[in-house]
Amino acid sequence: MPCYVRLMRKEDIAQIAEIDREAFPTQWPSTNYQHELHNRLAHYVVACQERQTVEEPQVEASLPRDSGLMSWARRLFSRNHFFNNRLPPSGGEYILGFIGFWIMAEEAHITNIAVREQYRLQGIGELLLISMIDLASELNAYTSTLEVRASNTAAQSLYYKYGFTQTGLRHGYYTDDKEDGVLMSTEDITSASFKAHLQQLKQAHSRRWGIAIYEVV
Ligand SMILES: CC(C)(COP(=O)(O)OP(=O)(O)OC[C@H]1O[C@@H](n2cnc3c(N)ncnc32)[C@H](O)[C@@H]1OP(=O)(O)O)[C@@H](O)C(=O)NCCC(=O)NCCS
Repeated sequence: MPCYVRLMRKEDIAQIAEIDREAFPTQWPSTNYQHELHNRLAHYVVACQERQTVEEPQVEASLPRDSGLMSWARRLFSRNHFFNNRLPPSGGEYILGFIGFWIMAEEAHITNIAVREQYRLQGIGELLLISMIDLASELNAYTSTLEVRASNTAAQSLYYKYGFTQTGLRHGYYTDDKEDGVLMSTEDITSASFKAHLQQLKQAHSRRWGIAIYEVV
């Protein structure tokens, strides 16, 4: 089933809000994604698939045509077995997950990342993070930062895998239950060492999940 990443659009907001509610049930108020669409600092990437299924997808033909800033985002998931969960409802695009970040002072601060529960552990979180890092470097960011709940070891593992390290701890950072927030950040994402590590991870991800990631010139 073909799947790809692209920038968030207005028509995605209902699905994004649904994923947000599922992933962060105690977080209130939740992010105002309508507002975020008009926020020049904010960038959102969604991983989605067409709801119509195709037995053996024609890989190149299924890529969305886009241009300019969005052209970076053309990616392709090329194997049916990648999404072996039950099929989504038919019609339109089905959003599987999203990532949001703000670019401030050459720093890409991740505000949100979430994948639909039934699609987790299938490489989508990784795909979103890879896409975000690629886009952030195209937008001239030098580093990426985030806060994550101290108990959220799943997300922390993902971040560690992609070169984030703990840079601080904010006691009682989360307002709902006063849980501590772990601050994490990358080294210079434009450095040769970071790029080489990212390239290795992309290749491993591609091999593991049967995904072809195409960098668009
Ligand atoms: C965090 C999240 C986005 C990961 O998405 P995902 O699609 O399941 O992640 P992937 O399948 O791409 O996993 C990639 C890596 O993440 C880590 N990871 C993901 N889920 C994990 C889990 N349950 N336990 C341990 N590590 C996990 C692993 O390092 C994994 O790499 P590996 O397969 O080589 O071990 C997803 O769990 C989610 O939506 N969680 C709820 C929202 C959330 O907590 N967001 C983070 C806010 S800071």
